[in-house]
Amino acid sequence: REKKMLTGKKVLVSAGPTKEIIDPVRFLSNHSTGKMGFALAEAAHQLGAEVTLVTGPVQLETVEGIKRIDVVSAEEMNKAMLDHFAGQDIVIKTAAVADYMPKKQYQHKLKKQPGDLQLEMVRTPDILKGLGEKKTTQYLVGFAAETREIERYGREKLERKQLDAIVINDISSMETGFGSDDNAVHFISKQGANVTLPQASKQRIAEQLFTEILKEVELNDR
Ligand code: PMT
Repeated sequence: REKKMLTGKKVLVSAGPTKEIIDPVRFLSNHSTGKMGFALAEAAHQLGAEVTLVTGPVQLETVEGIKRIDVVSAEEMNKAMLDHFAGQDIVIKTAAVADYMPKKQYQHKLKKQPGDLQLEMVRTPDILKGLGEKKTTQYLVGFAAETREIERYGREKLERKQLDAIVINDISSMETGFGSDDNAVHFISKQGANVTLPQASKQRIAEQLFTEILKEVELNDR
C-alpha cells in the first residue's frame, strides 16, 4: 500500500472565478470553472491531507471529506482565505480573482439611459499578497495565467508576492487553462525548482504538482 504523503498536513486551496455584483441581475466574472482547483483539493485529500477548499461560483461537486466554503466576490474570498490561513501547511491559490469590482453595488436593476454608460471600478484586495505578508510556516503557492513571457512574469510574481512557488499556467492554447479538462504548466520555486509539466489532465497535473511541492515541504521539515 502506498504511503499517504500528506497525512497530518493541512492544505488550503482556492478555486474558481469570483463574481463582482453590479446590480441584482448583472455581474463581472471570468472563465474559470474551478476544475484545476478542485483537482488539487482532491489530490491533496487522496494523499491524506485535511483539505479546506474555498471556491467561487462553480458547477462542481466536492468529494466527501473535503471542507468546502462557497464565496462569491473577491472580498468574500479574501475573508475566507484569511480566516482559514493560520495552521495550514500548504496553501494554493488557483482561483482567478477579479482585479477590479464596481465601486457601487446598485440595489435595483440599472435602467437603460440614452447614450453610453460608465461604470466606476475599484481594486479588489490582492489576496495572495496579503497571505504572503501574513505567512509564518505555510508553504504558499500562487498561480499565474499568462499568454506571453510566461517565465519572466511568473518569477516577478513569485518575488513580489513573497511566494514559495508559482505555477505558471500557459493559457495561450485552447486545450489548457480556463475551462479545459487538460492543463500545461511550469512550476517555479523560491528554492530553485524549474519544472515543465506538459499537457495532461488537470488531475494528473495536480498529482505532479504535489510531488514537486512535497519535495520542498519535506526539506523544510528536516
Ligand atoms: O478553473 P479552471 O477552468 O480549471 O481554470 C484554471 C485556471 C486557468 C483559472 C488556473 O489554472 C489559473 O491559472 N489560475 C490563476 C488565474 C489568475 O487569475 O492569475 P493572475 O495572474 O490574475 O493571478 C495571480 C495569482 O494572484 C493567482 O494565484 C490569483 O489567485 C492571485 N490573485 C489575483 C488577484 C487578486 N485580487 N488576488 C489574488 O490573490
